[in-house]
Amino acid sequence: CQAFFTPSILVGKKVLITAGPTEEPIDPVRMITNRSSGKMGYAIAQAAFNAGANVHLISGPTALATPYGVTIEKVRTAREMHQAVLSQASTYDIFISVAAVADWHIDNYTEHKQKKQDQQGLQLHFSPNPDILAEVAHLDKSPWCVGFAAETENLNQYAQEKRLRKGVPLLVGNLAQQVMEADTTTMVLFDDKGEEQLPTLPKDEAAQRLIEAIAKRYTSASI
Ligand code: CTP
Ligand code: CA
Repeated sequence: CQAFFTPSILVGKKVLITAGPTEEPIDPVRMITNRSSGKMGYAIAQAAFNAGANVHLISGPTALATPYGVTIEKVRTAREMHQAVLSQASTYDIFISVAAVADWHIDNYTEHKQKKQDQQGLQLHFSPNPDILAEVAHLDKSPWCVGFAAETENLNQYAQEKRLRKGVPLLVGNLAQQVMEADTTTMVLFDDKGEEQLPTLPKDEAAQRLIEAIAKRYTSASI
């Protein structure tokens, strides 16, 4: 059992995690979504449980089994995820926002299926979704927040800027081309001291390394 060998660095801590993609409906049979398997978020949830935490996972649609020992709440849209997270975030010690949240939803969603013979093309109108991580980071009683950023270029600059814009102490960056649908990941940790690159590892090992890095920073921040 892996838990036996993991140091109990998060015993007594409540950890909230979002994972997977979100889906935004066009009509009852069509949707727009973000590319995410959920593997990294689920691996982090498992690693946090193995480190002794009480873990709750709020997940968009994935094909993955619920991590052992973790409670799960399934959502579809970004606005459902927002509602689920904000209704409980201030009761947690740590929030890890791994979900690939859709940035927009479709205003002209239709209750009935769009028929292709009725129109040449389809015009969709998008409105912004709430920024869940930024809102949690600015709550009066905010948990210690960790963000993720998958970029396709200029990782260091974009990730540090994103960390400051969201107002979070730690942001995990990676290059989207290297990690999406892959079983390994290469994470770079961005905090107020600069950046730290972790080795390329299978997602479950990388998750354990990340939980150790989070526990270290969380503990020194809360002394
Ligand atoms: N995030 C969130 N709610 C959103 C958008 C993003 O909670 N509506 C979180 C993600 O879970 C991630 C972090 O914010 O932890 C960064 O997401 P990302 O999509 O990289 O950042 P954006 O601010 O949306 O910027 P952009 O997509 O333009 O790069
Ligand atoms: Ca985004």
